[in-house]
Amino acid sequence: GGVTAKDALGNDVIVSEFLNSHSAGDRVLAQGLKGDPTYLVVQGDKTLSNYGINAVCTHLGCVVPWNASEEKFICPCHGSQYNGEGKVVRGPAPLSLALAHAEVTDSDKVVFT
Ligand code: FES
Repeated sequence: GGVTAKDALGNDVIVSEFLNSHSAGDRVLAQGLKGDPTYLVVQGDKTLSNYGINAVCTHLGCVVPWNASEEKFICPCHGSQYNGEGKVVRGPAPLSLALAHAEVTDSDKVVFT
């Protein structure tokens, strides 16, 4: 059982519309598994990555914003940093951000598992 990705307004993400309104390299928050804020990743070729990046910092659970100019997730709480794929590159976070499988359905939605 997966969960359908929802946007900030609680509507199901429609992949074609989503890709039309974002740029290559963007990381965009959606609601993911267990309601966790999870980034959808627009790849360099403007397709959706097959994984989402859980935005909950592995240190103490702050939501980490994407810093597009530095191409990192930088935690506002204690400064942990993660690269664009969610891999931890600076502590105190002990682990990389969790990934969720993201699959595009026949109805153009995204299901996280
Ligand atoms: Fe993110 Fe502490 S909660 S660095």
